Amino acid sequence: MRGTGFLLVFCWVLGLLASTSFCGNVTYDHRALVIDGKRRVLISGSIHYPRSTPEMWPDLIQKSKDGGLDVIETYVFWNLHESVRNQYDFEGRKDLVKFVKTVADAGLYVHLRIGPYACAEWNYGGFPLWLHFIPGIQFRTDNEPFKAEMKRFTAKIVDLMQQEKLYASQGGPIILSQIENEYGNVAWAYGPAAKSYINWAAAMATSLDTGVPWVMCQQADAPDPIINTCNGFYCDQFKPNSNKKPKMWTENWSGWFLSFGGRVPYRPVEDLAFAVARFFQLGGTFQNYYMYHGGTNFGRTTGGPFISTSYDYDAPIDEYGILRQPKWGHLKDVHKAIKLCEEALVGTDPTVTSLGQNLEAAVYKTGSVCAAFLANVGTQSDATVNFNGNSYSLPAWSVSILPDCKNVVLNTAKINSAAMIPSISHQSLKGNIDSSEALGSGWSWINEPVGISKDDAFVKLGLLEQINTTADKSDYLWYSLGIEIKGDEPFLEDGSQTVLHVESLGHALHAFANGKLVGSGKGNSGNAKVSEDIPIALVTGKNKIDLLSLTVGLQNYGAFFDKTGAGITGPVKLKGIKNGTTVDLSSQEWTYQVGLKGEELGLPSGSSSQWDSKSTLPKNQPLIWYKTKFDEPAGSDPVALDFTGLGKGEAWVNGQSIGRYWPVYASPNDGCAASCNYRGPYGSTKCLRNCGKPSQTLYHVPRSWLQSSGNTLVLFEEIGGDPTKLSFATRQIGSLCSHVSESHPSPIDTWNTDLTSGSKLGPTVLLECPIPGQVISSIKFASFGTPRGTCGGYSHGQCSSRMALSIVQKACIGSKSCSIGVSVNTFGDPCEGVTKSLAVEASCT
Ligand code: GAL
Repeated sequence: MRGTGFLLVFCWVLGLLASTSFCGNVTYDHRALVIDGKRRVLISGSIHYPRSTPEMWPDLIQKSKDGGLDVIETYVFWNLHESVRNQYDFEGRKDLVKFVKTVADAGLYVHLRIGPYACAEWNYGGFPLWLHFIPGIQFRTDNEPFKAEMKRFTAKIVDLMQQEKLYASQGGPIILSQIENEYGNVAWAYGPAAKSYINWAAAMATSLDTGVPWVMCQQADAPDPIINTCNGFYCDQFKPNSNKKPKMWTENWSGWFLSFGGRVPYRPVEDLAFAVARFFQLGGTFQNYYMYHGGTNFGRTTGGPFISTSYDYDAPIDEYGILRQPKWGHLKDVHKAIKLCEEALVGTDPTVTSLGQNLEAAVYKTGSVCAAFLANVGTQSDATVNFNGNSYSLPAWSVSILPDCKNVVLNTAKINSAAMIPSISHQSLKGNIDSSEALGSGWSWINEPVGISKDDAFVKLGLLEQINTTADKSDYLWYSLGIEIKGDEPFLEDGSQTVLHVESLGHALHAFANGKLVGSGKGNSGNAKVSEDIPIALVTGKNKIDLLSLTVGLQNYGAFFDKTGAGITGPVKLKGIKNGTTVDLSSQEWTYQVGLKGEELGLPSGSSSQWDSKSTLPKNQPLIWYKTKFDEPAGSDPVALDFTGLGKGEAWVNGQSIGRYWPVYASPNDGCAASCNYRGPYGSTKCLRNCGKPSQTLYHVPRSWLQSSGNTLVLFEEIGGDPTKLSFATRQIGSLCSHVSESHPSPIDTWNTDLTSGSKLGPTVLLECPIPGQVISSIKFASFGTPRGTCGGYSHGQCSSRMALSIVQKACIGSKSCSIGVSVNTFGDPCEGVTKSLAVEASCT
């Protein structure tokens, strides 16, 4: 008791000192996290600080708060902060303290997942490469060298947070921390040492005395007091390993990640909302979206291999920081509905009963409060259920939320939020190129030499594994070999060709014979390995074979992921086509070069006096650096560069890497359906778009990296392309759409805690132009009756009121926002006895 009293006074004093103060005592029990003695229902969302810029953070966090989040979750990325052992870096996008304080300034809590293993589609799962070279080290198991480093880094981060007073126990926003990450998924592979490692990790974390609970995700055997939590597309069936721990969901995947060469995954919001509601229906009290804002994998931070530079994730806030609608809005409504139930939710366990096949009610009744969730988990049929003497219609794969056990304030399949369809407008880079810098095309260039060009090249017998050789200092490793062909060797019979056979662990390679690109190979996210047969022409006398092997993000997931390896481990063979003679070159003396000459010269920054702008700009040529200067596109919309026309490489704006680009890597032609049925269990390959098209053409250039004029853009192009085809792409809102039926609940904001007002208004279409200063300028479509189709493609059904368009025009045009009752009172009744809906497509200017 004395302790609590002291804490309260302490917190009160802190509250006087700081603008936002959080207090203080975070514990947990069977039902929930308990903050200052109060059980809490908490909605959380992942935003990884280095995947955006400090200039973007306040807006992203505010949009998260507006979307109904209480908590922001982030991993801590070890390899960002300590890329060189014992040299810490917390500057710019790595400014973890600033990020946590920015979240605190918005009044939100933080869940800090220290790991330090992160996974996260992040290079090497977040481990710094030097860790791999510590003698005797074994990652993520009961191994002294590993444990010593893991403990040092974890303690370093805890210490940093404590020094800045960022834990809730100190008046800060951090209410939760994670140690390890999904180790339970791979523990089997580590044998009995797995158990002792996890026990050690738990004890180590606990000993750091953060004053707030620790969690382990996907760790069924997490020892007390660590809370084991669930990750997945659904976690309603999850149970923590002790009745003293709350049911928590640390990763609800809002979509899925994209790979180069992959189709673009998306997750329908009706299904996501269903998963969230089911979780709270069955006893959950903490839920985190992974991701709420996915952002961008700048530089060489992507893991994989083959993870794309975009980490959009189909999250409620898109890669560029723009609200994805109706996803963001519908989830906001779900959060409000759940919060209306909070008192009942934290008060008791639910009583779950069956209302028929696939139909389930959960009731939280305690004292004078009562909240209920009604679910139809069937994938086919809509149903009508009787509950507490009333009748409720429940669409398939949906949950209705009744904060008073009577009124439905929300059904997860009925979306009140308007959709926003983006339109992308292109603008030539050329208009923005500063022509004083370079003549003619506005571009200058430097050729990257084929093969060995650096002084630090070295010779080794046999083929070397790449990651051990480069320590990931660069994506690139040259394997170079001279071959002497005598006139009488079989390869040369009548000048016929030879086949160069190369096998590599991946991830991609370019083969050059006598200085010329003769072939390329690449793996994919499912199989990184490359095996190529490349026809080459050798000449009598000296020949040179130069193999450029490259990585595209290091493995981040799986047991022993750190040992996956990359590069040309062989065999490398020459096969004579004519008589089948084969020479194995694998154990010859190869010459190696780590990285490119241009990297050594610092070309990414645009410096060097060697840039050539006098002769004709070379196009479609492999291994070339390009540079130009450009002005910032006007306006304040987020900026992307469209790389259509280029091959593969990396790009830098004012010296900052915007990431790897690879617009020629297209996804397979098949596997995308025109629409995706949200009913039924979701998986990462269920809803895909963009089949047969480049996986990623647009690359985010944060506004804050630009100055109004004279920006430097540098590209390193591996395969060949035309840089003059580059253009800017900005995103605007194309259309605003809403489709609401007579059976939709009133908009959630019309319900207050006593639930009287909401029930009166009735279903309503609400349209609002999201950009300040804009008004609704036209109604492209309006139909009351039985309209069909989706935004951008609505059509009238059999039944439609003739007055709909003029009524909607009258209510909306010229206004920033408008609301129209979806009812025969507004439109008259075009077809009695049929449930009608109103579909509207509008545009704002
Ligand atoms: C989880 C992991 C996350 C992320 C996610 C997929 O298994 O914990 O870090 O990799 O999968 O996006």
